[in-house]
Amino acid sequence: AVCSTMADDDRFDCLPQGDISEASCMARGCCWNQRSSVQMVNGTVKLGLPACFYPYKYPTYRLENYKETANGFEGTLQRSKDAKDIYPNPINSLRLQVIFDTAQRLHVKITDATKDRYEVPLPVLPGAPFSKPDTTLYDFVVTKEPFSFQVKRKSTGGVLVDTATNTFAFYDQFIQISSLLPSKYIYGLGEHTDAHFLHSVNWKQFTMWTTDIYPNLETPLYGVHPFYFSMEEDGDANGVLLFNSNAMDVILQPTPAITYRTIGGVLDFYFFLGPSPQDVTSQYMELLGKPQMPPYWALGYHLCRWGYGSVENTRKVMERNLAAGIPLDAQWNDIDYMDKNKDFTIDGSKFNGITEFVNEVHAKGLRYVVIVDPGISSAEAPGSYQAYTDGLAMNVFVQNASDQVIEGRVWTGNPQAYPDFTHPNISQYWLKQITDFRKVVPVDGLWIDMNEPSNFVDGSMVGCPKDSSLENPPYLPNIAGKTLNTRTLCMTAKHHAGLHYNLHSTYGIYQAKATQAALLQVFPNKRPFVVSRSTFVGQGQYSAHWTGDESSSWSDLQTSIGDILNFNMFGIPFVGADICGFGDNATEELCLRWHQLGAFYPFSRNHNAVSNRDQDPAAWSPAATEAIRTVLLTRYSLLPYYSTLLFRASISGHTVVRPLFFEFAHDKRTYSIDAQFLIGSSVMLSPVTTPNTTKILAYLPEGRWFDFYSLKKISDKGGEWIELDAPLDKVNVHLREGGIVPMQKPEVTTGKTRQNPIDLVVMLDKTGKACGEVYWDDGEQMDVLQKGDFSLVQFEMKNGKLKSTVVNDKYKDVPAMGSVRVVGLERTVKKVVWNGGEEVDFVFNDHTVMVKVGEMLGKESTVAMEFE
Ligand code: GLC
Repeated sequence: AVCSTMADDDRFDCLPQGDISEASCMARGCCWNQRSSVQMVNGTVKLGLPACFYPYKYPTYRLENYKETANGFEGTLQRSKDAKDIYPNPINSLRLQVIFDTAQRLHVKITDATKDRYEVPLPVLPGAPFSKPDTTLYDFVVTKEPFSFQVKRKSTGGVLVDTATNTFAFYDQFIQISSLLPSKYIYGLGEHTDAHFLHSVNWKQFTMWTTDIYPNLETPLYGVHPFYFSMEEDGDANGVLLFNSNAMDVILQPTPAITYRTIGGVLDFYFFLGPSPQDVTSQYMELLGKPQMPPYWALGYHLCRWGYGSVENTRKVMERNLAAGIPLDAQWNDIDYMDKNKDFTIDGSKFNGITEFVNEVHAKGLRYVVIVDPGISSAEAPGSYQAYTDGLAMNVFVQNASDQVIEGRVWTGNPQAYPDFTHPNISQYWLKQITDFRKVVPVDGLWIDMNEPSNFVDGSMVGCPKDSSLENPPYLPNIAGKTLNTRTLCMTAKHHAGLHYNLHSTYGIYQAKATQAALLQVFPNKRPFVVSRSTFVGQGQYSAHWTGDESSSWSDLQTSIGDILNFNMFGIPFVGADICGFGDNATEELCLRWHQLGAFYPFSRNHNAVSNRDQDPAAWSPAATEAIRTVLLTRYSLLPYYSTLLFRASISGHTVVRPLFFEFAHDKRTYSIDAQFLIGSSVMLSPVTTPNTTKILAYLPEGRWFDFYSLKKISDKGGEWIELDAPLDKVNVHLREGGIVPMQKPEVTTGKTRQNPIDLVVMLDKTGKACGEVYWDDGEQMDVLQKGDFSLVQFEMKNGKLKSTVVNDKYKDVPAMGSVRVVGLERTVKKVVWNGGEEVDFVFNDHTVMVKVGEMLGKESTVAMEFE
């Protein structure tokens, strides 16, 4: 009876895998009801309303010895004697720790009470012990039997987390917990390409397992970020991280609810209470590490492709873009520079002359970046390949279950070894390879790829042990392929820090860490530039990211927006997709529109796969090349703004690009918008994302909005959808009231642009107020904040007076102030006075005043207007 009265929304899947039959369901003690919407599609289960589901009362665990501690609570969870043994090795006694980390952050951890289990070995900052905060935004409430807990928001009474779903299970290789969600507004859970940034909760599965695969909708991709972000019904935001690196399924269902099924590690949850969306990301980065600021040059445009094929052709393509006046800061080369695709080698015929070429690139004020894959060929004649010889000598390769170097295969077509980036010798090994290589090719940054880690054979050249529960766990998350070792290493492979089974999804973060550390040795005290395909929680400290092998399609252009917004929420703000797409041939229209979007990605790089038609800006018609040039110049004009945002990301954990709801949390209409986004809080991009389009519908949230190019006011109150012209040669950019945006006249490199004066655009709100800031440093130094070697000037406008306050002026080599444009004036300006004395020339028209200032940026100053 209990079963038959259960509402659809209360059904949690009790039989997610295997023989989905009444008999198997009964064996689990669950409810069976044929009315189900689970489907089999090509032999795989497509989630839906489950046929087999947990009853209202289901024996799981009982909480005992629950008591208050110095910073929270703790207790023991005893498995019920009536609990069904569904998987092998249930853990009968669990330790519950509830730690009130800070007023906004709650930590809940469930581990084996009697023995250690694998836990993610990466540092979380700052470390415990914490002392209990005087007050918290949350309440933590438990139910003892069956054990469940709630996290409530004190201010609204909202229940953010409620695990009273009867699904809780803790076996050695199957840990499951479900929670009711406070709303259907769920974001995050990467890395996945979803059709929309706002996830559907209609039975969606997000599998976490780093995988080298084309970014198909919903398949697990290169990175793992078990972090969801949710908007509550009343506009507050919260975020939840499960800090676990094992293969896992995360399921959203319409209840709305979330279910985690991980096959190892422990339950290590962090709850971030916000309450604003920005607060959530700040709290997240506070714990997991704030992103490293990229060097300034990396903010420029990057040109890359796989298959330039030779140094001559690389030069030819670069030159034609320079000749066309395309702003460019970095030329890249892909694996084709290598000798038979081997790391740290050069193709001696086609890339003969690479050293001279890199010197040329440098002489033009540009930088040079190459790809490095993790795999080190093990197939060369003994002693003939230094990277392999060194690796053996330093014992830094990942080993198989019988302690031999495990071999896989990637681009070389031959066996290769995998550096173990958790090994204590790795820093020395990796530094040596990079240093030796730089003697020939003086690269400025490194692009690390295939670090999921990828393997073109499953497991290893000789397969994997067959009878291991690591290779064949009792529950298999919905990874691509039928085994965990599909296209990667064996689960039984050994790293210094543990088993591949546990560490698989952290391979990329460890490689990024080692690469950053090596570059820091090569360029002491300079900000390293590393861009990584595989990422894990907290990786923004070590690297940037690109979203992998997108195809040259309109749908991939569209979904790239959600991807970069997610990575900003994951604390890896320096992110971009391959502009014009990687796979397939781009069309001119697509490539142009993609530049009009990609010019605003924090990391802006054009990259293409081998044998596809050229898609660099100069490869198109003169009109398209010119339109691409124009939008790249727009990017360069906004560099001071981007760099200030990246500074804020690195010190305050802010996002650089952000969804509209980050700034308009109380406007539910913004929750599903993913064809537009904000850059900081003051600039909004509304790109064209569909073919044959010359008009778009864009949402302008509340407030006054100004056109970026004409500075004309286009909405006085916002909160409306408007139709905008979107001719081929233009992307819509809008400025929001209340902000001040620092800009510079753009040149063709970041270095040249940096020399120009800083111009300000001040967008007044209805009350005549605006504020903003500009950050400046030498663009290269590491740890600027600790050293204080930067300048930060804040601007505030009110009552017709713009005041600049110097917060820090230790870095002296700042550009001059150029012009100030104040937009949105309600009255005619009669006179403008500089620093309380001198009258200055100005131009006033159409509600905008333009003043040339010409003072140093680093001085306190005022610009005051008098009105008619
Ligand atoms: C991978 C990368 C891609 C690169 C290619 C060849 O597919 O994702 O960017 O061009 O390998 O190195």
